[in-house]
Amino acid sequence: MKETNENKQPVLEIKSLFKSFGDNHVLNGFNLKLYKGENLVVMGKSGSGKSVMIKCLVGLMAADSGTIKIQDFDITSLGQKELDVLRTEIGFLFQGSALYDSMTVRENLNFPLRRHKNKVDGNKNTEELVLEALDNVGLASAIDLMPAELSGGMKRRVALARALILKPKIILYDEPTTGLDPITAKEIIQLMRDVQKKYNTSSLIITHDVDCARVISNRMILLVDGIDYAHGTFEELSKSEDPKIKAFFKN
Ligand SMILES: Nc1ncnc2c1ncn2[C@@H]1O[C@H](COP(=O)(O)OP(=O)(O)OP(=O)(O)O)[C@@H](O)[C@H]1O
Ligand SMILES: [Mg+2]
Repeated sequence: MKETNENKQPVLEIKSLFKSFGDNHVLNGFNLKLYKGENLVVMGKSGSGKSVMIKCLVGLMAADSGTIKIQDFDITSLGQKELDVLRTEIGFLFQGSALYDSMTVRENLNFPLRRHKNKVDGNKNTEELVLEALDNVGLASAIDLMPAELSGGMKRRVALARALILKPKIILYDEPTTGLDPITAKEIIQLMRDVQKKYNTSSLIITHDVDCARVISNRMILLVDGIDYAHGTFEELSKSEDPKIKAFFKN
């Protein structure tokens, strides 16, 4: 399907990404472009390689081949130091929530601030930033709780607050609503939209939640057989007669 962003420069671009584990060829030439200010949803069935793709993207996993550019930097050619700097521009909400279980909510949020002191707004102390981030997700009152004392939805909110605390330009969400009840899932989706509006971030959202995709996507890519099988808006793709595309939208 035709892309409408042809003249724009992507903030993030994946070209011809390949990744195998032995005989398991997970990604077979996957392509993706994320443009400024958009919410791009990647849908793919369980095990199709969505998390592998996003891990290659942030350098947690090495791709076999392909190029990954973030804001014009080819991440495969960057040294550790440069990669670290670039990572501060990217917020990553892991599948699950991946909070540090032995740290309070405050400490979980302090962690990225301490690691990337130079990114912190000099006029604000870390306590203020932590409170502001928690306030954004409606959880200021949970600041001294441990992760074990939080519900699933609260954990997801804290993880979101942590992903946002350095005010990243790009946010990557891996299954932000999975495992949540429909009402909490809706709240998280609303928060993601609020954040996008407030900070004009560009977001890559991985999900197999059709409702989430419908509400949040400006554009979508379907990951099938290791490639970017189809591109388009939710409306365009949901009307497709292609059986592989249709499979995503039937309930
Ligand atoms: N570290 C690893 N070592 C070996 N195989 C792996 C590894 N990580 C992922 N895989 C394999 O890669 C494939 C894709 O996994 P991935 O986690 O990307 O799926 P996914 O699309 O995110 O699925 P889900 O929707 O269930 O999260 C699977 O077959 C998985 O077994
Ligand atoms: Mg996954």
